[in-house]
Formats: sequence, C-alpha cells, structure tokens
Amino acid sequence: MAYSATLIPGDGIGPEVVRATVTVLEATGVEFDWDEQQAGLSAFEATGDPLPEATLASIETTRLALKGPLTTPIGSGFRSVNVGLRQAFDCYANLRPCVTLPNTQGPFEGVDLILYRENTEGLYAGIEYFDERNQIADSINRITRKGSERIVRYAFEDAKRRGRKRLTLVHKANILKESGGLFLSIGREIAEEYPEIAFDDRIIDNMAMQLVIRPDEYDAIVTTNMFGDILSDLMAGLVGGLGVTGSANIGDDCALFEAVHGSAPDIAGKGIANPTALIRSGEMMLRYLGETAAADAVFQALRDVYGEKASLTGDLGGTATTSEFADTLAARVRQIVAA
Ligand code: NAI
Ligand code: MG
Repeated sequence: MAYSATLIPGDGIGPEVVRATVTVLEATGVEFDWDEQQAGLSAFEATGDPLPEATLASIETTRLALKGPLTTPIGSGFRSVNVGLRQAFDCYANLRPCVTLPNTQGPFEGVDLILYRENTEGLYAGIEYFDERNQIADSINRITRKGSERIVRYAFEDAKRRGRKRLTLVHKANILKESGGLFLSIGREIAEEYPEIAFDDRIIDNMAMQLVIRPDEYDAIVTTNMFGDILSDLMAGLVGGLGVTGSANIGDDCALFEAVHGSAPDIAGKGIANPTALIRSGEMMLRYLGETAAADAVFQALRDVYGEKASLTGDLGGTATTSEFADTLAARVRQIVAA
C-alpha cells in the first residue's frame, strides 16, 4: 500500500531539498503516492495566491504533507503560509530534535535534545494592530489554557515514549506575568501527572545562555511559539547549523513535515544546499507512519555517510552537491534495507 501525501516543493532551495528527500525516502522501499502542490512565494507569483485552494484541498484529503521552505515577505505582504498551514490543520505540536552527527563541527560532542514548540498561538496568533495616527504597533501574545495544555501534555507523552528523563519549560513569566504565567502554571499542573519525568523551568534568556555552555544538562524542552522558533535555530547551531535539523508539525489527525530552516535565497538554485534537515523530517514522517525500520535505516545511513566528510555538502566542509549527497545516502539506505 502506498501512503498518499501532499508534496510541496516550496521556494528557494525548497525544490532541491525536496527532490533529495524523496530520493532517500523512496530508497527505503516504503511507497508514497505524492500529490504535488504549490505554496509560498512561487505560488503567489504563479496564481496570485500564496496558499492556493488546491493545496489546502490536497492536505484536507491526505492529512500528510512533506514541504519545502516557503519565503515570507518581511514587514508587509502576505502572512506566513507556514504559519497559516500549521493553524489551518491545527498542527499544534512542533517537534524539533537536535542530535549531533559525525563531522558536523558543532561546539559540542554528543548533543541530544528535543524541543517541543507550541505551534498555533502566542505571538504567531496574527492578532496585530497598527495605530497609524499615533504610530503605535501592537502584536498580541495570545496564550490559552487549551493551547498550553495540549502542547505540554504532548511534550510529556512524547518525552515518555522516547525515554527522556527531564522536561524543562521555557518562559518569560517574570515579565509576561499573564501569558507567561498561564503557560508556566499549566506546565506545573500537568507535570504532576508525570512523576517519572523530572520537570523544571527556565526563563528564556537564561536558557539561551545555558544551552550554549552546557547543553548536556538538558534533555527535552517545551515552550511557546516565538521562544521555540528562536531556541530551535540556536540548537541547530549546536549541531552544525540549519542544514541538519528536521522538524515535524503534528496535530490530532494531520501532520506536516518540514525543515527548521527557511528558503535560503543566498544559496538557492546552486545545487549546494544540505538536504539533511528535510531528510531528517522525512525520517520523522516515517516514524509517524509507524515505518520504524525504514526510519531507522535512514538514520543509520545518515550516521554512516556523515562518517566520510568528503561526502557532505559545503556547509559542513564537504564537496558534494545536494543531489550527489542524496544519491550516496539513498545507496546506503538500500544496502541497509537489503541486509
Ligand atoms: P534561512 O533558514 O533560509 O537561512 C539562514 C542561513 O542558513 C542562510 O545563510 C542559509 O544559506 C543557511 N541555510 C539554511 N538552510 C540551509 C541548508 N539546507 N543548507 C545549507 N545552508 C542552509 O533563514 P532566512 O534567510 O532568515 O529566511 C529566508 C526565508 O525563509 C524568509 O522568507 C523566511 O520567512 C523563510 N523561512 C521559512 C521557513 C519555513 O518555510 N518553515 C522557516 C524559516 C524561514
Ligand atoms: Mg524559524
């Protein structure tokens, strides 16, 4: 049986890393029936709509998507389609694992962290006002009990499944007494249901400092939308940069898989982007589908190929192009699956 999934090539380096990821996923032998759809700046330029009805309808049916990064105009222009998709399909849990692979030149050895980012509200709720006359801009940081409970509970459940020992809630409740305070107090309430996982909390600025000097003291992190966005890029920096960190957006009956990074316009079209981040998202997609052996094969192949620095892309000091790297990895996946 083939899995029906929506495939969104996206903008910038998107089409390059999406093609590479499909090559690697297909090497596992798991079959996908891809429904290719447009979104983002490329869709806007082609159709006048950055999130065409056909794309929404496709995900409505498949409830599963692999997507490349989408360019969002800065300051004005259309709202982020990434955020729009996460909200439209209520993919409230954004999982961002961060694991050291060989030869990645991060400042630490053996980093193994996972971040759970609330994905539908906070400063991304889209509640913004501009008072033209007085030149005052407001962005509302909406935190709800429902939204906080479900992300904190998801984090505990997933951390438990993965055998994690500690969950740290990150907030700014000293300043954001209402929104941060609500999130923190809900975290403390739910923690009582999980005595097997140690629970503590950190203020965001301190957490940023802690992660760059002693990441090994942390295990799993749960936080609100904006802090999760920022910390996950920081965590990518601990393990070799944005080229290597994958991510999953999970809801109760829908999941969208994308990299942490954006469309990287500075390197788009050159064939040099590192597709590992989206490949790791693809690995998460396989796990989500229960294709554990295939997911393990992808991860094992990544470890093996990363052992050989020359096989890597330029961001990691290697000499491979995006497609050369994908072909090497796909060949290794086929060997592992056949063994
Ligand atoms: P970015 O993540 O696209 O790039 C930041 C830096 O990391 C650049 O120097 C880039 O070359 C490098 N980089 C990123 N991915 C890489 C990869 N796979 N291999 C090698 N190097 C890589 O962030 P930036 O420049 O702030 O944003 C560009 C656009 O992407 C914006 O329009 C932004 O809104 C959008 N974006 C979209 C996201 C998504 O679709 N989920 C997430 C983040 C940003
Ligand atoms: Mg981000």
